[in-house]
Amino acid sequence: EPLDLVIRGGTVATASAEFKADIGIRDGRIVTLAVELPRAKDEIDATGKLVLPGGVDAHCHFDQPTSDGSRMADDFASGPLSAAFGGTTTVIPFACQQKGQSLRAAVSDYHERANGKSVIDYAFHLIVTDPTEQVLGQELPALIRDGYSSFKIYTTYDDLKLDDRQIIEVLALAKREGALTMIHAENSDIIAWLTEALERAGDTAPRFHATARPAIAEREATHRAISLAEVVDTPILVVHVSGGEAMQQIVTARHRGTRVFAETCPQYLFLTADDLDLGGFEGAKHICSPPPRDTASQESVWRGLQDGTFQVFSSDHAPFRFDDPEGKKVGGETSGFSHVPNGIPGVETRLPLLFSEGVVKGRISLRRFVELTSTNPARLYGLMPRKGTIAIGSDADIAIWDPQKQVTITNDMLHHNVDYTPYEGRQVTGWPEIVLSRGAVVIRDGECLGNPGRGQFLECGTPDTLP
Ligand code: URP
Ligand code: ZN
Ligand code: ZN
Ligand code: ZN
Repeated sequence: EPLDLVIRGGTVATASAEFKADIGIRDGRIVTLAVELPRAKDEIDATGKLVLPGGVDAHCHFDQPTSDGSRMADDFASGPLSAAFGGTTTVIPFACQQKGQSLRAAVSDYHERANGKSVIDYAFHLIVTDPTEQVLGQELPALIRDGYSSFKIYTTYDDLKLDDRQIIEVLALAKREGALTMIHAENSDIIAWLTEALERAGDTAPRFHATARPAIAEREATHRAISLAEVVDTPILVVHVSGGEAMQQIVTARHRGTRVFAETCPQYLFLTADDLDLGGFEGAKHICSPPPRDTASQESVWRGLQDGTFQVFSSDHAPFRFDDPEGKKVGGETSGFSHVPNGIPGVETRLPLLFSEGVVKGRISLRRFVELTSTNPARLYGLMPRKGTIAIGSDADIAIWDPQKQVTITNDMLHHNVDYTPYEGRQVTGWPEIVLSRGAVVIRDGECLGNPGRGQFLECGTPDTLP
């Protein structure tokens, strides 16, 4: 039987190997990997290019309702489109339960939001905000079996956070049902107390967001989350770790034998708290939680990417427009940092930034890059071997990179609906030029060739949390 497509002459990289091979694709899947495959109906010349598994962005927020009158700028069309232009072929955004809402209703709502829109495949993590008996006893176990096998819980934000007892109950459920719990770890009472003191003193400029959410608040909550997981004896994944203090909690716990996984994001490599201090309201562009910290923290995070402290590198794309009354300015420019929606965009720039500053600059290997951005998230969230690698039988989700291409990042060239990028003017080397999703070229030379809605919903299997 002839092949539909051969990607010819490129250097293929996975999390474990780099080799020259042609890739033969039929019916959306990889069917052969060999040198000098026979001609196919379609051919892509990848001479001089890197052929990588498409990225898996396991932490992004699209079209998530908020409680403060703000609106996310990206929905399930623009978010995944922007991801695809940046070399990502699978996104795992969140389906967030509102307090008082059934989890099933939340999941249906997000399917409606996503239906017919995404150009690439997507799964959902759940966000559990109201772990009632009904949720823990019936809804969540059934949803886990239906392909929603990971969920995020919060220790902060009044409309999302759980108390320690609730966290324990959720962790115990995750253990019973074989799911993976992701934790946003920041001590909410520390933040509330500091925020009120700052507001009383009139210190409400964007930069005080970082003062109100210090590393110690993250360190304490990370320690507590790990302790609760140890009591229950179940793995957890700490999301968006910002620096050395929280990392130290994770490393120490692992030495005790705890299975704690960790994620970090571009903002903790490329921004610091100084980026919240740009004069006037401008710094609100970089308000996210945990906040970016200092250059020593950036160095710690790089070390963690090198030494295995981190398993996953995600964007935490949380898209709010800057110059918009439904975006960063929802509370008005003078109402203070505590009224600014948290989150920054980054779904399209995640891979090029890490490739350029990590791989090209020699900080991490190409294999490690693939592992952090594609293979590990696919494995941890139950999508392997379909996603996250280049192997016979896997979906032909592939990004073909020009490793030498010089690009100056500007918001104009990006495809999200946000009116700024935190990385404006930054020079990078290397960019994904051709992106395939299940064997179909969806991005080629700066153009989208895939229809909205061609992306499929993915049911996640059991998370692979083996050490
Ligand atoms: O500031 C952030 N990260 N907003 C997005 C929501 C979250 O906590 O990940
Ligand atoms: Zn979070
Ligand atoms: Zn997030
Ligand atoms: Zn206030």
